[in-house]
Amino acid sequence: MIESLYRPLLDLVADTDLAPWVDALASAHRPLTDSDNGHLPRWSHALSAMPDVAPSSVDLGTDAVTIGQRSDLTASEFDALEETLMAFHPWRKGPWRFFGMEIDTEWRSQLKWGRIRPAISNLSGRLVLDVGSGNGYYAYRMAAEGARLALGADPYLLYVMQSLLARKYLPDSCPAWVVPLGIEDLPPPIPVFDTVFSMGVLYHRRSPLDHLLELRELLRPGGELVLETLVVDGDAGYSLLPGGRYAKMRNTWFIPSLPTLEQWLTRCGFSELKQADVSATTVEEQRSTDWMTFDSLATFLDPDDPSRTIEGYPGPKRALYVATK
Ligand SMILES: C[S@@+](CC[C@H](N)C(=O)[O-])C[C@H]1O[C@@H](n2cnc3c(N)ncnc32)[C@H](O)[C@@H]1O
Repeated sequence: MIESLYRPLLDLVADTDLAPWVDALASAHRPLTDSDNGHLPRWSHALSAMPDVAPSSVDLGTDAVTIGQRSDLTASEFDALEETLMAFHPWRKGPWRFFGMEIDTEWRSQLKWGRIRPAISNLSGRLVLDVGSGNGYYAYRMAAEGARLALGADPYLLYVMQSLLARKYLPDSCPAWVVPLGIEDLPPPIPVFDTVFSMGVLYHRRSPLDHLLELRELLRPGGELVLETLVVDGDAGYSLLPGGRYAKMRNTWFIPSLPTLEQWLTRCGFSELKQADVSATTVEEQRSTDWMTFDSLATFLDPDDPSRTIEGYPGPKRALYVATK
């Protein structure tokens, strides 16, 4: 079933400048079918257990990505839905609404999308890549904006399975996809994307400049990079390299100051840098919910001084930049 879900992606890609990727993308689903991840059988079973009905309506353009309505299901189908969707816990990015069932995710991702949307070029007709897309919440929102292709890539299999829950109900023509690939697993880069998003990924890369250069290789000349990352206060040249965890996150490497981030972008060949937003992350935006019951931001901060992380670093602040190749 999973392989067949991805078939329309290949037809779509074949018809674009991304056609040289078709052969590689034809096997891109394999981590979901061949991996020895012990959760996959449960997730695949839950995906198959989703109601076998055609949704009466779909709306990807509202705060909660919405598939179907409560009235599309019988009472027993609706009763079973919560347990089926809960098989995909933790739900981090969203919200989503499946047949009237609200998934209140850890992140209220509509807030970030609200900061991004006015700052970027209109996505209508564009080939878009979202590196580190998570479960594709943003890719679905990009599809609603008219993107010709909104291709998410994320190596974390749970998130890709979450993306397939919506995909199962969408017409082949819906251009939003998430493939189970990290940036390093993508086919050899070709400079064809009109917009490339990297949000919440840069500080997880040991070599942030190489990450920016990789993103640049995927953009067509004149294409747009949308970069969102943690930042700290500081002068040009300064970046924070945490001694270990940052806000309990493993795998956090360089967190630049704003002028350092601009230097990185400029030295990697980007121009027309636009700082679209700088915001501290708050518990309004990131919190534990019934659909993500693990610890969240409130416990990642120092209880005596919420402007610091639990490790004593400056609390999370994120910058959004738009830059041109
Ligand atoms: C902090 S989350 C950000 C998710 C989303 N972009 C957002 O802004 O809400 C980082 C994401 O990057 C993904 N990721 C981790 N390693 C990656 C890699 N090598 N290539 C692409 N994505 C990766 C994670 O699985 C996770 O979904």
